[in-house]
Amino acid sequence: MKFDTLIIHGGIDGDAGTGAVTVPIYQTSTYRQSKAGQPGEYEYSRTANPTRSALEKLIADLEGAAKGFAFSSGMAAISSVLMLFKAGDHIIIGDDVYGGTYRVVDKVFSQLGLQYTAVDSTDPENLKKALQENTRAIMIETPSNPTMKLTNIKEIGKITKEKELLFIVDNTFMTPYLQRPMELGADIVIHSATKYLGGHSDVVAGLAVVSSQELGDKLHFIQNSVGAILGPQDSWLLLKGIKTLALRMDRHCDNARAIVSWLQEQSWVTKIHYPGLNPRVGSLKEQMKDYGGMISFEVKNEAVLNTIIGNLKIITLAESLGGIESLISVPAKMTHASVPLELRQRLGISDTLIRLSVGIEAVEDLIKDLSIEGILI
Ligand SMILES: Cc1ncc(COP(=O)(O)O)c(C=O)c1O
Repeated sequence: MKFDTLIIHGGIDGDAGTGAVTVPIYQTSTYRQSKAGQPGEYEYSRTANPTRSALEKLIADLEGAAKGFAFSSGMAAISSVLMLFKAGDHIIIGDDVYGGTYRVVDKVFSQLGLQYTAVDSTDPENLKKALQENTRAIMIETPSNPTMKLTNIKEIGKITKEKELLFIVDNTFMTPYLQRPMELGADIVIHSATKYLGGHSDVVAGLAVVSSQELGDKLHFIQNSVGAILGPQDSWLLLKGIKTLALRMDRHCDNARAIVSWLQEQSWVTKIHYPGLNPRVGSLKEQMKDYGGMISFEVKNEAVLNTIIGNLKIITLAESLGGIESLISVPAKMTHASVPLELRQRLGISDTLIRLSVGIEAVEDLIKDLSIEGILI
């Protein structure tokens, strides 16, 4: 089955009992048992729920994974995966992972004894140098947020295989439509499904998939024990959102490409971060089908930044990304405010950096909205 068909018919297709073409919302917390202690397939909805199971099976199919799990947020998915490790273990993370990921590792898990080193993952040598005897995993994002740095997934996969480490990839920016890390050596793939998978800015959710039944059993134990599960209504919203993933991603990619071309001609833009402009992108053609819908760019000064943002009529100033509507943000003051100033500066997250999540509106309207031609600064 081709991917575009799989997103519509993968997982559990419809409802076998009634013939309904969509998976119903099983709004129930518990299930009748015929004899005490002999539950049927479902027992209690923290452990499993049919609507959530359909979503979990679908994301596993889309990422080419053994098992999938749905959580109440991307951070709940990341935190549950981090609970696979114990006090005294060490992990290596990309130094520009999402600010919330950095925060939960630095402020929550390190208090519980998990050690970490943050390195620039774009050069595998950095990862090799950070390896310790107690290193158990490498966790990266590519493209990274918000400076769109690219990491070669296959190269890191070779290191983790050789050293018997878990390889965790946050695939939120690309989705399995554009990038499938498991085919390149990842053991665990995580999503903030709040973003492109949901696609409509109407649900907060997280997904994680694993490459083996054994890892699946461990993560299910954590999901059921900790209980940060996704409810049936939100699971259904994600099932609905994912059906149009291919169409939406193509449009996000095309619109972003057109906006980048336009930004390249604007005198007030000093730098553009976009995977398609990265000199290394040629060697990573195998890893990503297209460049996605995220752009970040630097402008000359804060006056220009304030003028652009103050002038917007269509694009919304808001956190988050990946919805059908375009969203703009200032990472240093919003999504990455929790990253220490010194690290922000090292990563190139300046006060004049703007991040744009390009929606699927008519691109001419988006360009008009961003234009400050004729406005006095
Ligand atoms: C790459 C990435 N991973 C994880 C998260 C966290 O996801 P959530 O906000 O759904 O908890 C985000 C949120 O912006 C993100 O951008």
